[in-house]
Amino acid sequence: GKGGYDHYMLKEIYEQPTALRQTIRGRSNQLDNRAELEALPRGVFSDVESVHLVAMGTSYHAAMYARTLLADRGIPAQAFLSGEYGSNPPPTGDRTLVIAVSQSGETADTLSAIRSVQGTGAQTLAVTNVVGSTLTRECEDTVYIRAGPEIGVAATKSFSAQVATLVLLSERMSQDIQGGTPRATSDLLDSIAVLPDDVQRILDESTAESVAKAYHDSDSYFFIGRGIGHPVALEGALKFKEITYDHAEGFSAAELKHGPLALVTERTPVFAIFTGRNDTKTLHNVKEVRARDAPVVAVAADGFGEIDEYADHVLRIPDTHNDVAGVLANVQLQLVSYLAADELSRPIDKPRNLAKSVTVE
Ligand code: M6R
Repeated sequence: GKGGYDHYMLKEIYEQPTALRQTIRGRSNQLDNRAELEALPRGVFSDVESVHLVAMGTSYHAAMYARTLLADRGIPAQAFLSGEYGSNPPPTGDRTLVIAVSQSGETADTLSAIRSVQGTGAQTLAVTNVVGSTLTRECEDTVYIRAGPEIGVAATKSFSAQVATLVLLSERMSQDIQGGTPRATSDLLDSIAVLPDDVQRILDESTAESVAKAYHDSDSYFFIGRGIGHPVALEGALKFKEITYDHAEGFSAAELKHGPLALVTERTPVFAIFTGRNDTKTLHNVKEVRARDAPVVAVAADGFGEIDEYADHVLRIPDTHNDVAGVLANVQLQLVSYLAADELSRPIDKPRNLAKSVTVE
């Protein structure tokens, strides 16, 4: 059941600290600064030269996030919508690793993307929540995100658990491919260790309710971010549109002046995501939208005091490593979407036209 919550979505948002504890248990070895993923013996990625991540929806946003993590570690990586990948396959070979990210492990687009590389020599890896799902049988290796069952159509805890798993996987790959201990690993592992508590703090202290109350009757919402803040912006907008039925659009803050700014008015709240990297540039974008009188909701670290002057609301996240800051920012956006949809009395767990698992292409 819903365990006293009005909706599965809210229950699952609140389950995130527990889910994340399960995700990271036994995988973050702080003693010798290594990430360990039980199913993957050391050296399994030694020959990998490039990574293709394939996924849809929220899982695609986790895949985009991982692409940035891998690129930061010097590993060439691209994220693809699996529904495009199968029909327009890029070149792959025996030094390509194809990672399929899927909560359910049953998404038809993602299964067919994996099937399209079978026989090309590419290595395949499933990152999924569901034990024994079809995807795990189609891929050579599997890493489970261990989020526990997710019932709400809107994916929440699975995104957090996917990203945490992909952070560990990126570290693990970087150890195999480059050897030695990559820069900043110990900081990162420390941040991963406190991630469940950081999420709990957000759940306890969030002021998302005042944001949802202030803006649930606007016509259009924009979400902007840079680096890992870009997929978080896309995810914030996807969640918002899925359950409120209002128009919401996410894009890179870098794109703003290349078109979307034309739509920004005093009636379009802009959510700006700050993750601790390139924040000054995103702050500049915030100034631009403010000059068009748009309400600004910033999601920013406790330590980013400068933002107070430029935002109508600031949703705070604990100071942490940039690689995991996006998980925290996303939790604030999950709460905003949920509370805004609740204000509008939407059927949050079963949004119209959508299914939990999309099993046809
Ligand atoms: O089970 P999967 O992760 O493969 O599902 C992918 C998408 O269908 C899914 O994330 C969808 O976009 C959700 N409704 C998002 O909340």
